[in-house]
Amino acid sequence: MKKKIAVLAGDGIGPEVVAQALQVLDAVANRFGHQFTYHPALVGATAIDKTGTPLPDATLETCHKSDAILFGAIGDPKYDNDPNAKVRPEQGLLKLRKSLGLYCNVRPVASYSGLYHLSPLRDERIAGVDFVIYRELTGGIYFGDKGRSDDGKEAFDQCFYSRGEIERIAHLAFKAAQQREKRLTLVDKANVLESSRLWRETIQKMAVDYSDVQLNYMFVDNAAMQLIVAPSQFDVILTSNMFGDILSDEASVIPGSLGLLPSASIGSKVALFEPIHGSYPQAAGEDIANPMATILSAAMMLDHLEMYQEAMSIRDAINRCLTEGIGTPDLKAQYTYSCSQVGSLLSSIVMEESPQLKKDKIAESLSTII
Ligand code: IPM
Ligand code: MG
Repeated sequence: MKKKIAVLAGDGIGPEVVAQALQVLDAVANRFGHQFTYHPALVGATAIDKTGTPLPDATLETCHKSDAILFGAIGDPKYDNDPNAKVRPEQGLLKLRKSLGLYCNVRPVASYSGLYHLSPLRDERIAGVDFVIYRELTGGIYFGDKGRSDDGKEAFDQCFYSRGEIERIAHLAFKAAQQREKRLTLVDKANVLESSRLWRETIQKMAVDYSDVQLNYMFVDNAAMQLIVAPSQFDVILTSNMFGDILSDEASVIPGSLGLLPSASIGSKVALFEPIHGSYPQAAGEDIANPMATILSAAMMLDHLEMYQEAMSIRDAINRCLTEGIGTPDLKAQYTYSCSQVGSLLSSIVMEESPQLKKDKIAESLSTII
């Protein structure tokens, strides 16, 4: 298959982790006989520096012409500390989501048995955790009217949702539940917010068409607590933009590292794949960042392009590395592999057709890249 991939590496460690994901994608192309072409485009602080805007028109055009988008990270401290900055890197990502209609953000969360020590939670709480958050991405308080009073002393952000906006993501979440453990939890604040009551009412009506899915409701404050005390109860979580933003960062304490969490943002056209971590500016250029979240995002991209076996080859390679104790130092102090070494090793494992790659084989591949 031939696929055009827009590559928006962005800021900080973005370019380094994306480079490793491309290396792994090349290995996939090689092994399975595909042709991926990569089309780089500017976004975030890098784009502001070069063009004055965080999402140049040329970038949007590249995205529209592609089959999928691989995104690194955006953000730069020089904008974070200035509440009055008119142009910010994050605006690039928000505009991209809105312009491409990426209304559904999918964030899978699972614990890896070899890495329980990374999590601040007790082993028995995180054992077997495997759920996915469906976060609405183009509506709610992020995109509602916002403003200030004339004297600047009052401000507001409106949370707006329509039934149609709720239904389109809910269909995807119900379908995901049908493919998984058939449990869907709607997280809202329906005891206080009118928009949450619309979510509940809409989902309740839809549930009759998904009678094989067990639906339950949870207030967001309780969900924040349940994610920590009993995370294995969840299968698919469906929620609004803001609640999903907060809960997905909270959920990252379960696997213990933001460096392992991928995401997909999908709509009716081209979809975008990105790690959930930020641009980690302190590590930029050091070759120490963990590329696994971006590489797992590339695997989600392949799933989306219906290359299931190819996606699985990447996940298998990651699992094998983690089982063998190979990774960047954020995972374990004794792990001494660099970002590029992890990328090269994963590529060589992906390229290896035999499912039984032995430890000496890994050692052999490593000796060629160290
Ligand atoms: C995320 C991020 C973004 C968000 C920021 C960078 C605008 O936190 O993707 O979760 O709030 O959606
Ligand atoms: Mg976030």
